[in-house]
Amino acid sequence: MDVKLRDIRVDAIKTDVLVLPIPEKELEKSPLYALDRRVRGKLRERIERSRFTGAEGSSVLYSTAGALPASNLLLLGMGKSREIEPDTWRKAAARARKEASTVGAAEIAFYFNPSTEPDNAAGAVVEGMLLASYQFNKYRSNSKPPSEPRGLTLFKPGLKRSAAIEKSIRAVEQTTPGVFLARDLVNEPPSVTTATFLGAQAQRHCRGRGLSVEVWGKKKIESMHLAGLLAVNRGSLEEPRFIVIHYKPARKAKKKIALIGKGITFDSGGLSLKPAKSMETMKLDMSGGAAVIGAMSRLPHLSLDVEVTGYIPTTDNLPGGNAQKPGDVIRYLNGKTIEVLNTDAEGRLILADALALAARQRPDYMINLATLTGACVVALGAQVGGIFSNHQPLADQLMRCARETGEKLWQLPLVKEYREQLKSSVADMKNIGGAHGGAITAALILQEFVAELPWAHLDIAGPAFTEGDTAICPKGGTGFGVRTLLKFLSTL
Ligand code: BES
Ligand code: ZN
Ligand code: ZN
Repeated sequence: MDVKLRDIRVDAIKTDVLVLPIPEKELEKSPLYALDRRVRGKLRERIERSRFTGAEGSSVLYSTAGALPASNLLLLGMGKSREIEPDTWRKAAARARKEASTVGAAEIAFYFNPSTEPDNAAGAVVEGMLLASYQFNKYRSNSKPPSEPRGLTLFKPGLKRSAAIEKSIRAVEQTTPGVFLARDLVNEPPSVTTATFLGAQAQRHCRGRGLSVEVWGKKKIESMHLAGLLAVNRGSLEEPRFIVIHYKPARKAKKKIALIGKGITFDSGGLSLKPAKSMETMKLDMSGGAAVIGAMSRLPHLSLDVEVTGYIPTTDNLPGGNAQKPGDVIRYLNGKTIEVLNTDAEGRLILADALALAARQRPDYMINLATLTGACVVALGAQVGGIFSNHQPLADQLMRCARETGEKLWQLPLVKEYREQLKSSVADMKNIGGAHGGAITAALILQEFVAELPWAHLDIAGPAFTEGDTAICPKGGTGFGVRTLLKFLSTL
């Protein structure tokens, strides 16, 4: 999609669909009624008939029938003007794209009113348009690609090009392919996205310009004593992999970061088998790993001066004849031991390896992403990820970035008193806590492996996957985390 910025009047622009974002109850302030004169009052009539007030999510598509250089007008409700944030623009643009495709638009023009600060809005609009274009149709026999807009013009009378606008547009253009890669990896059927496949995809998408990938097979995993990954893999006929992605910037690195992603390619629960219904979406359980691969694949394109290492332990979790059993004990490379009482709490078992290994490099920050607990979905719902951290400035910075990207994060506490619940009769800890606060007890187990380095854990069990279409994502993997990670890395 070709993006242009223009300084032009709203009644002079020639396009297929002219998008007019309208804050709630501010119709009179918008250029609507000036345009209405050109169509001899018919627009006002249409607005009154449809009772359009600018409420968020509402819209009116109006054909100008040659009365204006623009063939169609799309009025987009933006909700209350003081509640408009970057995500409002993102969603509005995504809706505009859908509406525009119903009239087969090749060119879309997006109007910014005089009070809109285009430095941020422009990037968000382009991002919404791009994100909304994602489809995963390779397993449908009758899919035909929808009509795609070729050009997007962002305009405002008196608009001045600025380095800030251009930079924000370039950044989103460079970020979306990483989101789409993560979505693809999640949406592929679990018998396609195996640990081996995930390793091969990391190699394919993360190479050149400072990026390199190592994929460790079972022998190397054994020699590195990644005991949690080996334990979880025992029930499977598929081999495990441990993926290490490294990015070394051309210039001197300002910071050293470790990103760790849970890569369970299918979670049946193991011997502590899940009910059939809960298994339906369990291909999503490598979403954390997919987000790390997706984000890292874009680092060379964003030319950030940070050194980043991605760690993705990956296997499926199956109940084969050699599967680990409740009561088994795992001894980790940092010396700690975990008694496995529930084989469905497997994410923490493989993340413990990766965190302990990453900590040896003494990174400035460690950030892990994992579809870790159903309890986090109970606490925060399907759209909000939980963030836990032993370092408040890191959590604050990640939450600031998440507010900008619209990927919702809410901080949950590391309640040290709950460590009591993890006491084991045979090992240093067990892998499950009590009946309540499951997202917290899971986080407390991870914390045992971070060697007190600044660390944040994102439990993305809810937002990694959407059960229905949203404005910016169809049902399936969302790529949650990719945009926030890249935004965060760009602030260092
Ligand atoms: N992969 C699941 C968590 C999950 C649940 C992700 C729902 C996405 C949606 C994880 O491995 C798991 O099964 N956790 C258990 C832990 C329990 C056994 C302590 C859970 O949440 O029930
Ligand atoms: Zn599980
Ligand atoms: Zn899992």
